Amino acid sequence: MSELGSRRTAAANLSGLPFYKPTGDECAIFEHAFRNRLPLLLKGPTGCGKTRFVTHMAARLGRPLHTVSCHDDLTAADLTGRYLLKGGDTVWVDGPLTRAVRDGGICYLDEVVEARKDVTVVIHPLTDDRRILPLDRTGELLVAPPDFMLVASYNPGYQSVLKSLKPSTRQRFLAIDFNFPAPDVEVAILAQESGLARERCVPLVRLANALRDLKGQDLEEGVSTRLLVYCACLIVNGVGLDRAIRCAIIEPLTDEPDVKEALVRIAEITLG
Ligand SMILES: Nc1ncnc2c1ncn2[C@@H]1O[C@H](COP(=O)(O)OP(=O)(O)O)[C@@H](O)[C@H]1O
Ligand SMILES: [Mg+2]
Repeated sequence: MSELGSRRTAAANLSGLPFYKPTGDECAIFEHAFRNRLPLLLKGPTGCGKTRFVTHMAARLGRPLHTVSCHDDLTAADLTGRYLLKGGDTVWVDGPLTRAVRDGGICYLDEVVEARKDVTVVIHPLTDDRRILPLDRTGELLVAPPDFMLVASYNPGYQSVLKSLKPSTRQRFLAIDFNFPAPDVEVAILAQESGLARERCVPLVRLANALRDLKGQDLEEGVSTRLLVYCACLIVNGVGLDRAIRCAIIEPLTDEPDVKEALVRIAEITLG
């Protein structure tokens, strides 16, 4: 297992749950959604903790998690299931959504706006008070048990006219707006995830916030918490600060030589 992987496992083992540091009341809202059988939408930039949050909450509620990374070829059948040939027989194989409905689990549709439009047709009857999943191919009509929950996420920053959720879909979900954590919370996350001393995480978070202020000018997206964790892990592994910042922050953010140079200068100024 990689250094990064072993540290994460160690972090998870302390409480028995995947490590997640709350940034507000999101854990309580998730629990209310689960107990009231309401679907939940998580909106926010990449690498700000949405997936970790869902992993943590599924473990906390003791429900199996079925995650689907949505992409533009994802069809309704990828979620519901299909007939497959097995040793000469044709057998029905549940997709992740169907499995979650049958098991009373949590189905997490990551980057749901990427999926094809027929996917919304499948999730609509599950996201209103019917909570049903009709499987046309098998002739079944599954009624979701009380502990089934649908969670979806997307990044509003990437939205285009072609890729956005229709109001008729989004208004079926409770929604939480995620953003990068406040500095003291982000420092605690970096220290926990990487093992780097807190005082050495502080300047990395300061740099990240200076770079986040450039979003929309030279940078499409701000530095994610994920990249900061990578940077802190490199430093823990003995990589020099400048090189760690270059590989974990500057190069992943941009391909433009001029922008890279500007970011290096901001790093020099911010880190003193
Ligand atoms: N609140 C948080 N608590 C713990 N770790 C976090 C938190 N926010 C971000 N992280 C770290 O950042 C990484 C990326 O988060 P992730 O959940 O994959 O982002 P997203 O799904 O929003 O793209 C995680 O693997 C974890 O190391
Ligand atoms: Mg994610």
